[in-house]
Amino acid sequence: MGIWALPTLLVTGLLTALGTADEQMVSVAVQEAAEGAEALHFLQLHGHSLPRAAQLREVRVFRHCVRRVSSKVTGAKPGYAHASDYTTLPLPVWNTPAMWCTGRGAKLIESEARQLRSSDATLDPSTLRMLVDVDQRDATTADSLLQGFADNSRAFTAQAEYSPLLFDAYSPGKGPGVCHAPDMELDIAQKAQLLKETPMPMGVGLVGEMNRTRYMEVLRLMESFIGIGAAGPLTDLTSPAVGRTTSKAGKVKGMITGAPIVLKRFAQNMLYSHASGILYSNASLEQIYDFSSWIYWLRQVSETPVKLVSQKACGGLSIIAKLLGTSAEDARAHSTVYVGHDSDLDALAYLFNLTWEAPPFRARRPTPPGSSLAFAPQGGGRASVHFAYQDFNFTTDRAGKQIAPVKIVKTSPAHVNLAHAKDWIEKQIVKFAGQDCLEACKSALSLS
Ligand SMILES: *[C@@H]1O[C@H](CO)[C@@H](O)[C@H](O)[C@H]1NC(C)=O
Ligand SMILES: *[C@@H]1O[C@H](CO)[C@@H](O)[C@H](O)[C@H]1NC(C)=O
Ligand SMILES: *[C@@H]1O[C@H](CO)[C@@H](O)[C@H](O)[C@H]1NC(C)=O
Ligand SMILES: *[C@@H]1O[C@H](CO)[C@@H](O)[C@H](O)[C@H]1NC(C)=O
Repeated sequence: MGIWALPTLLVTGLLTALGTADEQMVSVAVQEAAEGAEALHFLQLHGHSLPRAAQLREVRVFRHCVRRVSSKVTGAKPGYAHASDYTTLPLPVWNTPAMWCTGRGAKLIESEARQLRSSDATLDPSTLRMLVDVDQRDATTADSLLQGFADNSRAFTAQAEYSPLLFDAYSPGKGPGVCHAPDMELDIAQKAQLLKETPMPMGVGLVGEMNRTRYMEVLRLMESFIGIGAAGPLTDLTSPAVGRTTSKAGKVKGMITGAPIVLKRFAQNMLYSHASGILYSNASLEQIYDFSSWIYWLRQVSETPVKLVSQKACGGLSIIAKLLGTSAEDARAHSTVYVGHDSDLDALAYLFNLTWEAPPFRARRPTPPGSSLAFAPQGGGRASVHFAYQDFNFTTDRAGKQIAPVKIVKTSPAHVNLAHAKDWIEKQIVKFAGQDCLEACKSALSLS
């Protein structure tokens, strides 16, 4: 079996992702993971020569665990709002309440944390600060991360701080917001622009000039796995567009409509059930990666700058303050771990102008469950950035245990200038959420 070949394969993959030249301080190391005995190795960007104080200010932002998938389908076909309307295949049996981590979802996070910790000393639960959103999936993820980071030879004690304002400045999971909700007309206009310029995956292309033959092929391929439900064939649903809904309270909201809503929902069912070890469809892992691109495409056309900036205003300011070491609450500089959502990674991509590729996921800038962006200050006002993730292509260790190795790729660009980033982030907040939002977040975070 190819298990001993695994490290080499990963090295090759990472070296490709790293490129070669510009990185004098970062070297590639193959390391023994804390679990999985001798058969499992994984890779880490290794910051040997970084000054210790700078290393201590590392900031890492996680998306939560693999969770139960919502059964809502909004915007595909009027009157058909449940996933079971679009399939003849029973939906996955998640054995967990709506939107909570699956059993294996939590275990995957703990294993990921152990792998990351074995080569990143800043991930010490006794010194790091962990700032967490209040949803069950965030809390479970924080607990699993702390347990995975822990040194098993020491008594376990760790703290997580719940701070929902960092993850939503206008509608936090608990308590009042400090900023106003995004301007919906601007949100709709930005969705229309994103939809126009973001090519659909699996070779379908831009909405305005899509390959309709390919689009129909993709929809039929999905039907071959999930069947045709009461809502009728996917091929009869409308093409993607920006729609409007009006709430009972008279509030207008923009949303993407059409068949890709169904593709996304069932791609999530496929990926998350696979990761959770729950039998579901007959799609191969290759096909699951293909379909998963619709999850990330739909996010990229619906998570607009005005929404992300308004929602993550306080979070963005908090992160840049930690990286610059200007956060008053952190007299003792230490590393900070944020545990939130894919929207946090989307917001950071926008606020720091970053993108990444995470093969074997096909999409540009995917944000699979448990993935994280790590910022490490390097001196000279710069921080290096990388993206860590599991692809859920399990390998078996000597003890017969299934492991999802952590993969690490550089982002593009791989470094950010922190002063420029701070300036840009503040300007974006003023532009989309207003000066009052900027001031309110600074005051809530005790920043000057
Ligand atoms: C459109 O998709 C079809 C089916 O996959 C493919 O055969 C054809 O080459 C594509 N056309 C273009 C212009 O890419
Ligand atoms: C999967 O494929 C097998 C063999 O073709 C078939 O018997 C089974 O019904 C399929 N299962 C699903 C869930 O489509
Ligand atoms: C899963 O990993 C194995 C071993 O590294 C590799 O050969 C295979 O191509 C991967 N599968 C997919 C779908 O990427
Ligand atoms: C973001 O990065 C792209 C290149 O990746 C560049 O073309 C663009 O100007 C940058 N935008 C900002 C606002 O810096």
